[in-house]
Amino acid sequence: MWITAVVFHLLHLSCSHRVHWTYKEGELDEEHWGKHFADCAGKHQSPIDIQRKRVRYNPQLLQLELSGYDGPLRGDFTMTNNGHSVQIDLPPTMHISRGLPGLYTAVQMHLHWGGLDLETSGSEHTIDGMRYFAELHIVHYNSADYSSFEEAKDKPNGLAVLAFLYADGHFENTYYSEFISKLAKIRFAGQSTKLISLDVQAMLPENLSHFYRYQGSLTTPPCSESVIWTIFHSPIVLSHTQISLLENTLLDWQNRTLRNDYRHAQPLNGRVVESSFRAKLTQGIRSSTFPAFYFPVENIESIVNVHPLHDMSLQAFTLCFWTKSQHAGSQTVLSYSTQERDNELVMTVGTDVGLWIGGHFISFPMYHKAQDWLHYCMAWASQSGMANLWLNGAAGEAKSIQKGYVSQAGGTLVLGKERDTLLGTFSNSFAGWMTHVNLWSQVLRPADVRALALCKPGQLKGDIIAWGETSMTLLGGVVLESDTSCQ
Ligand SMILES: *[C@@H]1O[C@H](CO)[C@@H](O)[C@H](O)[C@H]1NC(C)=O
Ligand SMILES: *[C@@H]1O[C@H](CO)[C@@H](O)[C@H](O)[C@H]1NC(C)=O
Ligand SMILES: [Zn+2]
Repeated sequence: MWITAVVFHLLHLSCSHRVHWTYKEGELDEEHWGKHFADCAGKHQSPIDIQRKRVRYNPQLLQLELSGYDGPLRGDFTMTNNGHSVQIDLPPTMHISRGLPGLYTAVQMHLHWGGLDLETSGSEHTIDGMRYFAELHIVHYNSADYSSFEEAKDKPNGLAVLAFLYADGHFENTYYSEFISKLAKIRFAGQSTKLISLDVQAMLPENLSHFYRYQGSLTTPPCSESVIWTIFHSPIVLSHTQISLLENTLLDWQNRTLRNDYRHAQPLNGRVVESSFRAKLTQGIRSSTFPAFYFPVENIESIVNVHPLHDMSLQAFTLCFWTKSQHAGSQTVLSYSTQERDNELVMTVGTDVGLWIGGHFISFPMYHKAQDWLHYCMAWASQSGMANLWLNGAAGEAKSIQKGYVSQAGGTLVLGKERDTLLGTFSNSFAGWMTHVNLWSQVLRPADVRALALCKPGQLKGDIIAWGETSMTLLGGVVLESDTSCQ
C-alpha cells in the first residue's frame, strides 16, 4: 500500500535522488529500502505469502462489517497517477464499522499490478506461493484514536487495509469500465481526473465472508508497522483486455510504463495469519474453483516453479494432468533437473509424447489433435522399467526405460519449460492451458486413472504435487484462468 500521493510529490520534488525509492532498478531498490527507512527492515513487514495450511481459523473475525461502501455515490472522486500507482480518494463516509479495534475511516484505494514480460502477475500478497494478476488496497485509518490519516499512519493499529486479489476472466467486468477508461486521462505521473460516481462495493467480490487477517506494515517506504491487513479469499475477476489496459496505460515519473509495482513476500517471523473460514485442505480446493494456468503463446518466458511436498527421489511415479495446447511442436509440461542432469524427469506433449528419466528418452506417438483438452497420465516403475501412457483414461502401449533406476533428489521442478544448461536457459515452452497437475510416488491403479480422466468427484491428489495445494510460483506471464477442463 502507499501513503498519500501528496507526500510522494513532496518527496519526489524535494530530494528525488536521496529518497526516490524504486522496486527494482536503481540505488534504492527493494533490497535497500531498509537503509534509508529503518522500519523496512523490521520484523512485521508486508506483504507475505499466505500459506493456507498454517492459517488459524478464528470465527470471531466474521464480525467484520463495512458501512457506506454501497453506491453508487455521487460526487467528485479524485483519481490520480502518483507515479507508483493509480489512486482514488475515498469519502470519509466509508468505514470499517465492526470487527477491528475501533472505527476505521476510508482514505484512498489504489492497485498494484505486473505487466513486465518476465512477470505478468503483480499482486503483493500471494496465496500458497501463487501470485495473482493485481491487488487492490483500500486504505483506512483508525478514526477512533487518531484525528487524521497523517497522525495514524505510523501508530500501532493506526491503519487497516482491505486487500483484494484480481484474476483473469473471460468477461468484461462492467463495474470497472469507467475506472479503466479514465486511466488514459492520467497517463502521466502527477495527473488527476475526477470520477463522478463511485460504487466501491460493486468493484469488490460478492461474497466477503472468507478472508485472512494478520498484522503487518505499509508495503512501501517508510514501511511503518501500523497496518491490520485483511486479504479476501474470493478474487475480483477482470477481462484480459481490462487487465492489459491497467498494465499498459500509466507512465511513471520517467515516462516509462508503470509496471510490476509490488514488493516481494516478507518473512512472517512468528506472526500467525488468521482466517474467517476453515480452509479445507484435506479435500483441497475444488477443481472448479482452482484456476488453470495459461501459458501465452507470445510469452515464451512463462514458467511455474513448483515446491514439491516430498523430495524427488523416485522408484516409481504417476504424473497426470490436463492440457489444451496452442501449437503442435514438442512442449514441456513438467521438467525436473538436478545439478548433474537437465533431464532427470521430463515429460513433453505435442506430435508425440516424450519422457526423459535420468537422461534417457522414449517417445509415444500421438494420434490425437491436441486442440482440445486432453488428459494424460504417465506411469513408470523402476522395478519393471516399464512406462505406460494413458490418454483420456485409455491405456496405450507400454515401453521400457531405465529399469532399476532411482531419480535423484535435490533438483528443480518447473512446469511449462525445460532447462537447457548449454544455453543457460529454459526451452521447449508450453503454450496453452494446463491444469490438475498431480504427481504420485507410485503407479496408480487403472480405475484411478480413469476416474481422473472422467472428472469423477473426490479426485485423488498427488503426494508429491497436489494440484491446488502444492506451493507454486508463477513467473514470466503465466495467467490464471478459470478451469474448463472438466466441463
Ligand atoms: C459466502 O460463501 C460461503 C462459502 O461459500 C458461504 O458459507 C456463505 O454463506 C456465503 N455468504 C454469503 C453472504 O453469501
Ligand atoms: C514525459 O512526457 C511529457 C509529454 O511528452 C513531457 O512533457 C515530459 O517532460 C516528459 N517527462 C520526462 C521526465 O521525460
Ligand atoms: Zn498498496
